[in-house]
Amino acid sequence: MPVLQTSHIIKYFNDPVRVKVLDEVNLSVDRGEFIAVIWKSGCGKSTLLYILSTMDTDYEGGLRIDGELMRGKSEGELARVRNEKIGFVFQFHYLLNEFSVLKNVMLPGLKLQRYGKEEVEHRAMERLRQLDIDHLALKLANQLSGGEKQRVAIARALINDPLIIMGDEPTGNLDKRNSDLVFDIFKQLSEEFRQTLLIVTHDMAFAQNTHRIIQMQDGRILV
Ligand SMILES: Nc1ncnc2c1ncn2[C@@H]1O[C@H](COP(=O)(O)OP(=O)(O)O)[C@@H](O)[C@H]1O
Ligand SMILES: [Mg+2]
Repeated sequence: MPVLQTSHIIKYFNDPVRVKVLDEVNLSVDRGEFIAVIWKSGCGKSTLLYILSTMDTDYEGGLRIDGELMRGKSEGELARVRNEKIGFVFQFHYLLNEFSVLKNVMLPGLKLQRYGKEEVEHRAMERLRQLDIDHLALKLANQLSGGEKQRVAIARALINDPLIIMGDEPTGNLDKRNSDLVFDIFKQLSEEFRQTLLIVTHDMAFAQNTHRIIQMQDGRILV
């Protein structure tokens, strides 16, 4: 069973004029796949990810996550699916600057309430160690470099052992060295832990090293 599957997803924006941004998007992601969705800037990458991550429910067509149809679920049920099954890494990290790195990574774990506070903290430290940033645990998020922040964001995305990690141009704001580092982390997650990753990007060099490239144009998947 695919981790994520869409059938004929269509999305319009109506403002200022009616534009079809997604045109019959059919996607199927299997467990353990590391996929890059390549698309030019301004064409609909974020729009697509908002839908796939259940944040935008205003679309035509079907979306299944872990076999379950998302249509008809309440906002609370969708929030639960997001927190439990999806890890996000955005172009900008969205860390909370007033909290420590450790606390930032713990937050989605505390929210899920699958484990108690001590266990969440233990698991957060494990993730920080895995990404070689455990020495930063007690720093405030705004004391970190851009590359460090993005690694913290990846640790945070991993805290609930997500079924799939979605990235919205996760290297878009990084220099070459840090982009490579983030790529290597994704690759390692994919190869050693069979983590499923769906990353939208306009960075062809990034995409070329993943397992599968899905190329989009004019709202459609190019075949
Ligand atoms: N809420 C919205 N209303 C109208 N148009 C939008 C809205 N959000 C995005 N768009 C338009 O849809 C297109 C795709 O946007 P987006 O998904 O953010 O692209 P990308 O992430 O690939 O840069 C752009 O032309 C953008 O201006
Ligand atoms: Mg975008």
